[in-house]
Order: sequence, then structure tokens, then C-alpha cells
Amino acid sequence: MICIEELSFLYPDRTKAIDGISLTLRKGSATGIAGANGAGKSTLVNHLNGYYLAQQGTISIDGVMISKKNLDQIHKMVGLVFQNPDDQLFTARLYDDIAFGLENLGISPASVSAIVEETLRQLNLWELRDKPPSHLSQGEKRFAAFATVLAMKPEVIVMDEPTSDLDPKNRRKLITLINSLDTTTITVSHDLDFIWDTCQEVCIMNKGRIAAVGPAKEILSNKELLESNNLELPLRLQ
Ligand SMILES: Nc1ncnc2c1ncn2[C@@H]1O[C@H](COP(=O)(O)OP(=O)(O)OP(=O)(O)O)[C@@H](O)[C@H]1O
Ligand SMILES: [Mg+2]
Repeated sequence: MICIEELSFLYPDRTKAIDGISLTLRKGSATGIAGANGAGKSTLVNHLNGYYLAQQGTISIDGVMISKKNLDQIHKMVGLVFQNPDDQLFTARLYDDIAFGLENLGISPASVSAIVEETLRQLNLWELRDKPPSHLSQGEKRFAAFATVLAMKPEVIVMDEPTSDLDPKNRRKLITLINSLDTTTITVSHDLDFIWDTCQEVCIMNKGRIAAVGPAKEILSNKELLESNNLELPLRLQ
């Protein structure tokens, strides 16, 4: 359902962040993306909801080719949780950040309130609803950014480093929550134990290319493969 073909991307300073990636992800699948700092993970996933547009190659979601013209449709289908929560939260009140996208969809005010409350309660953020997002702790911001996407109930959820700043209990909570979703998920993470717990497939990136793709437990237990891509075994296997 997600089909990436021959994607390449050059930043204005001529850094080639993505270098000819092709990848197909099944509907309903949960895929982890791992790779060293600078491997191109964020650049790749920022293409999946049209935040970056393909310079070379194509990406289609459920047969819809992402282009400037259909970004509204793509935004409904694919929710992206940015690596930096400050890129996601922009209103003066947490509640409004969650309501914003729903209101834009033309959902009735009563339904918007119900969905916002449900989502905030689900992530233990309800008590914080009147706070400006800039006054939240790092972990709270991380959950708040996730809430803005979860509330929209997209078919595809893309998360870039969702566990950074989370305490062990909230990390565990996120694992349970992600495993309860029936959406297609794509998770970028340096936390290979988190990928182990939430993904069936893994893609290893190295210097803008895909170094390996396959079943999560197989790839994540291949010490040689991980080390040759500057990664280490998940903690549970060390
Ligand atoms: N705005 C930018 N302008 C120029 N180069 C950039 C920009 N953003 C990223 N890059 C470069 O593109 C490459 C890929 O960066 P990217 O952020 O996609 O890596 P990443 O795999 O997400 O790394 P990390 O694990 O540190 O988040 C890096 O070499 C980086 O220096
Ligand atoms: Mg990144």
C-alpha cells in the first residue's frame, strides 16, 4: 500500500540524503527504520505525508501518487509525528493543537470535543490541556505530538523517534498503544528494543540507501549486519 520507487533527495547545500530508495510496505504492516545518525531516516519519512516532495522517484499511498496537488488527501491518509515535537505543536494551548486538525476536517464541534478528550485521556494529558505546549516537559511534548496525529485516525502513522525523552513507564505505554492500533505504522528509532516490540519488519538505512530489509527479529539479531551499519544488538540480546 506504500510504494516508494527510486526516491532520491538532495538538500540545497547538495547533501545527498536519499540515494535511490525503493521500498514497498504492506497495508496494516508495522515497519521499523533504523540507522546511524545522518543515515537519512528523517529525510525519508518526512516524504511520506508530502512534507518533503520527491525530487526524483515517486511515492504512492494506496495507489495515490503524492504530489503538490493532492496534499490535503495525503494528509488525511498519513499522519507524521516529527522527530522534534516543536515542529508539531504551534498553538498556545495543548487542547487547541489536538483540535486543530479535526476542525480542519470539518468535523462537528461536539465530535471534535469528544475525540480531543478521548485522545488526551488516553495519553494521560487531559490535566495538561490548558497549558501552552512550550511549557510541557520533553516527554509530555513527545506524547502531545503523538496525540495530534492519533486524534486524526489516519490509515498510516509515521513516527520519528517516538521514545526519546519517554520514561520507562511511558515507553511501555507507547508500546502497548502502538500494538493495539490496526493502522499501518512506520517507526524510526535508535531504540532497537522498541522496534523489536512493535514492528514485524525492519529496514536498515546507511548513507541514504537501504542496507537491509526483512523480518524484525531476524535482522535485529544479526550482529554482523548491525555492526557493519554502525548499530548494536538490541539490549535484550546483549
Ligand atoms: N536541512 C538540511 N540541510 C542540509 N543537509 C541536511 C538537512 N537536514 C539533514 N541534512 C543532512 O542529510 C543527511 C540525513 O539527515 P537525516 O536527518 O535524514 O538523518 P537521520 O538518519 O534522521 O539522523 P538522526 O538519527 O540523527 O535523526 C545528514 O547528512 C544531514 O546532515
Ligand atoms: Mg532523524
